[in-house]
Amino acid sequence: MAASTLSVMCGIVAYVGARPAKDVVLEGLRRLEYRGYDSAGIAVLDGEEVELRRKAGPLANLEELLAVSPLPSSGTGLGHTRWATHGAPTDDNAHPHLDCKNALAVIHNGVIENHATLRAQLLEAGHRFRSETDTEVVAHLLEDAFGQSGDLAQAMRDVCRMIDGSFSLVAVHRDAPGVVVGARRNSPLVVGVGDGEMFVASDVAAFISATRDALELGQDQVVCVTPSGAEVTTFDGTVVNGRRYHVDWDISAAEKGGYDYFMLKEIAEQPDAVAATLLGRLTHEGTLALDETRLDPRLLRDVDKIVVVACGSAYHAGLIAKYAIEHWAGLPCEVELASEFRYRDPILDKQSLVIAISQSGETLDTLMAVQHAKEMGARVLAICNVNGSTIPRASDAVLYTRAGPEIGVAATKSFVTQLVAVYLVALYLGQVRGTKFGDEVAEVVHELAATPEKVAQVLQTMEPVREIARQLASAPTVLFLGRHVGYPVALEGALKLKELAYMHAEGFAAGELKHGPIALIERGVPVVIVMPPPTGRAVLHSKLLANMQEVRARGAYTIVIAEEGDTAVEPYADELVRVPRVATLLQPIVSVIPLQVFASELAVARGNNVDRPRNLAKSVTVE
Ligand code: F6R
Repeated sequence: MAASTLSVMCGIVAYVGARPAKDVVLEGLRRLEYRGYDSAGIAVLDGEEVELRRKAGPLANLEELLAVSPLPSSGTGLGHTRWATHGAPTDDNAHPHLDCKNALAVIHNGVIENHATLRAQLLEAGHRFRSETDTEVVAHLLEDAFGQSGDLAQAMRDVCRMIDGSFSLVAVHRDAPGVVVGARRNSPLVVGVGDGEMFVASDVAAFISATRDALELGQDQVVCVTPSGAEVTTFDGTVVNGRRYHVDWDISAAEKGGYDYFMLKEIAEQPDAVAATLLGRLTHEGTLALDETRLDPRLLRDVDKIVVVACGSAYHAGLIAKYAIEHWAGLPCEVELASEFRYRDPILDKQSLVIAISQSGETLDTLMAVQHAKEMGARVLAICNVNGSTIPRASDAVLYTRAGPEIGVAATKSFVTQLVAVYLVALYLGQVRGTKFGDEVAEVVHELAATPEKVAQVLQTMEPVREIARQLASAPTVLFLGRHVGYPVALEGALKLKELAYMHAEGFAAGELKHGPIALIERGVPVVIVMPPPTGRAVLHSKLLANMQEVRARGAYTIVIAEEGDTAVEPYADELVRVPRVATLLQPIVSVIPLQVFASELAVARGNNVDRPRNLAKSVTVE
């Protein structure tokens, strides 16, 4: 898989200097709260001991604990806000994690792919585990490595060569007072350079009130920090120069990574979010590894029908799931709005698999649909972004998207990762049921592995889309057309525009146009057309080309999203937005991005707050 930077989860802050680390770290964690989290913790060195306080829930819970059980005032410490991926959001799973001797503390952002194998080896060697996290293996590996070298930076380098996946790690050890060691691979880590004090953090927001001088760690590097300086090495110990820079953002811009709105930051995080959701789930041999879902392959072989239930954007991801499941798994698949599902009489039994898609895991309509399905004897697989939330707990199995916290109300990175998740499930069904040959599955697996890079490519070419959006800021309506998987993308594009820009917008299956909606077309009406790839199902392309001509002949202003090299669309496109070439079924991953950018830019041009659209809540917990 292409190297990518997984920056979407958890907050890290560590301090070494003359001030009490507990206060500086707590202040840093407050600055990282915007990232979203479900538990938090702090550890400081105190002579012979590592002192640790952790608490599930908001930082206020940790502060309450610190009020009754204060930490000592030493100058070396670290803290973490956790967004659960492995293990529920409990006190015990909160970071920092300690080794068996309570001699060292470690915090981690990312996913350790080979944690299960390492945990088994460490247990065998006599280590005791106290959490369900992937991170804890690092604490025990560091314990052994430090035992051999007595040097925390060397121990970190040794451990980094043993672990796979993405990680920013920071550790302190009681036998290395005044030292903080950090490491990174595919996940960011930055050093704040103060006057006689130093910081290590997942982003500059954590220390920007103390210093604006920063040192960026490169890929596969370890940093050893003391109050007077930092030494950076590669994982094999070669000393390198980190990049020094000055941060010129203020606090609020720093929280949003320099963007004006969280939603814009979340759109930009999509390559990372897609990469994180694929991590460890595709093998190099081109197969799917979804053991973590608790999906029993024997049960999947008996499934005779799939029903997807979801709301809003998640429902659109469900519509795309139908195409993927029917094509790769050869199973009949229905998709239903969760709010409608339980008010009819769906025919379900124990051979039915219900897939509930929900970012928050708390949407009441979807939860009720899950309960209804379970009462009817069906098995339920949740696709969810929030670890330990209600819908996965009410389901038989769960596949977590790893989009990280989504703060903007409109779904962006959560939607794209839901697409990744439904592709994984559809391919997995094809794999275990033998409906696709191994080489066919492998081909798609390789295509999927390349999608983070393709999403990044789209994001680099969005300036013309912003320009089109600004020009259309006073349009009364925008229509969206698509066919096949482009149809749900059209629906999603219209939903984004309605909720963010408060404009009338409609998505249509292009073939339906002639059955009514074409009456809406008059001179100047903007019509966004999501073109299928010209290769693959060529008939889809030629049909949509004809629809494009029909609307243009009636005066529509056509904004065409088309694959690179698709020259056939050029004569009929007033505006042409290019997306990279991907397989037909995977195209929504790239074609939805310009529609998100279009809606957000148009909303900003109309003076709207895109993070908090009027009348909407992030999670709808009423029916
Ligand atoms: C649209 C949007 C909503 C959600 C819907 C379901 O941008 O955010 O339509 O997709 O409310 O929410 P979850 O996925 O949390 O169940």
